[in-house]
Amino acid sequence: MKPLLTVLTQIHRPAVYVTNSRFLSSGASSGLLPLRDDAPIVGSSRELVQRLGSQVEVRTDFITEKEEAAFLQELESGLKKKRYEFDHWDDAIHGYRETERLRWGAECEEILNRVRSVSFAQGSQLLGPVHVIDLDKTGYIKPHIDSVKFCGSTIAGLSLLSDSIMRLVKDDSPSEWLDLLLSRRSLYILRDQARYNFTHEILKDEESVFNGQRVPRRRRISVICRNLPG
Ligand code: OGA
Ligand code: MN
Repeated sequence: MKPLLTVLTQIHRPAVYVTNSRFLSSGASSGLLPLRDDAPIVGSSRELVQRLGSQVEVRTDFITEKEEAAFLQELESGLKKKRYEFDHWDDAIHGYRETERLRWGAECEEILNRVRSVSFAQGSQLLGPVHVIDLDKTGYIKPHIDSVKFCGSTIAGLSLLSDSIMRLVKDDSPSEWLDLLLSRRSLYILRDQARYNFTHEILKDEESVFNGQRVPRRRRISVICRNLPG
């Protein structure tokens, strides 16, 4: 895994294109405005950002601070009973603990219904339990494609507690990539080609740079909804 990861990191750095000109005018001219208010997706070419744009969404501030606190309230005691896993070197995830949950309290259930309604087609069959990953500050998720046996065309995830960067790399053409700035309390959605033909990963703190700007990675909890294979 490691040599491959290093090679990929070196390859996907050449040109960066952003999703819209708003980003260029604010971010590039002042250099001071926070990136989070701007285009949260950059990539190896304008063409790729545009073509894949419909299959990759990042919704900044999808939940409020209060809603984030509701998830923590519901999840923290269960997570605390588990230990972070670091030692399985061949795992797709390093430095994490996880759980899944079928039944949620009213406030979280309402938020999850909002996630479902913007992410999945009406009548789409969803995976019952929602998947929760708690990444330690030093944790990261290596490039992988979710199992096509267990998971359908769409993956939707909330990010709690920390900003992070999700990198998508075309599996048969590693020079084609997108970086997604997953700000704290954002929702990301991966569909179709973005889900099947690109690996996705969550960068470790040391590598967490979005479009030239450092994005410190702290402990991060993700809450992930998936649909079933058609
Ligand atoms: C996964 C995964 C991303 C995240 O569990 O397969 O890619 O946001 N998770 O935690
Ligand atoms: Mn995944």
